[in-house]
Amino acid sequence: MATSQSGLTTTKAPFIEKAQASGELYIHQPYELYSEENHRAWATLYARIQERWQKYANPKFLDGVHSLCFDPHKVPKLDDINKFLNPLTGFKAKAVSGYVPAFLFFDCLRNREFPTTITIRDINTLDYLPEPDIFHDIAGHVPMHTDRKFADTLVRFGECAHLAAEIVSGIKDEKEKIDRIVSIFKALARFFWFTIEFGLMRGEAQELKVYGSGLLSSYGEIAHCIESPEVQRYPIQLEWVINQYFEIDHYQPLLFIVDSFEHLFDLVGVLEEWMKSGKLNNVAPGQPTMSEADVKSFLERT
Ligand SMILES: [Fe+2]
Repeated sequence: MATSQSGLTTTKAPFIEKAQASGELYIHQPYELYSEENHRAWATLYARIQERWQKYANPKFLDGVHSLCFDPHKVPKLDDINKFLNPLTGFKAKAVSGYVPAFLFFDCLRNREFPTTITIRDINTLDYLPEPDIFHDIAGHVPMHTDRKFADTLVRFGECAHLAAEIVSGIKDEKEKIDRIVSIFKALARFFWFTIEFGLMRGEAQELKVYGSGLLSSYGEIAHCIESPEVQRYPIQLEWVINQYFEIDHYQPLLFIVDSFEHLFDLVGVLEEWMKSGKLNNVAPGQPTMSEADVKSFLERT
């Protein structure tokens, strides 16, 4: 049977294709559909990264991994993860069928929900990730959501989307409105990329530790980002971050360092202020682009 063979493998899952075709974004996790191969992919990814997490990950992330009680051998059940996660910070992982349009993504964070991919990468290409999978979302992101300050930072970040929608709602000219929302979106997406996805933090002994999920879920890059002389690492400068384009298809050559999660939380406050004062209205062009669905998701709220 095609369904049981392909299980819930990234880009090869009939269950996901069906959900997408019928426009269902928020779905359930049909756990029985995971194949033996899917579980083996999780077990392999999980086992090999342990040593690197111990060496490079932020201590709050390691605490989170401990709190969530992952089964090393099986793809996690979102309901099980949420039983441990929800009492700690109110967050929960919420299954989605694919890309979540920007405003909805922000809004989920604001409601302490994390849109979570349920498919897992093909066991034959473990280092190749055509799109986020459950290992990236659950093993890379969710352990950080057990930390109260980090969780509050995500919520505050999510609130920025409402502020953005409110700010542009007063603009009559449609083109000006779209230009404004695109620029603000670029600034916010770049901030998310260089912190939540690829952030570094100073540890207690001033050593660098990883808290960004794109790094925490990559066996290769978690070591590369700390050890390689080819990576530029700078104390975070918000002016730089909001104007810095990024590319997603290779190891990051430029990373930014925060001092603490309090620091990160405060930076979102600065972003809010800058948004209000117009400082995010004309950021540098370049990646990321904003899709039509992203723009529409914002405009529908204005
Ligand atoms: Fe991510």
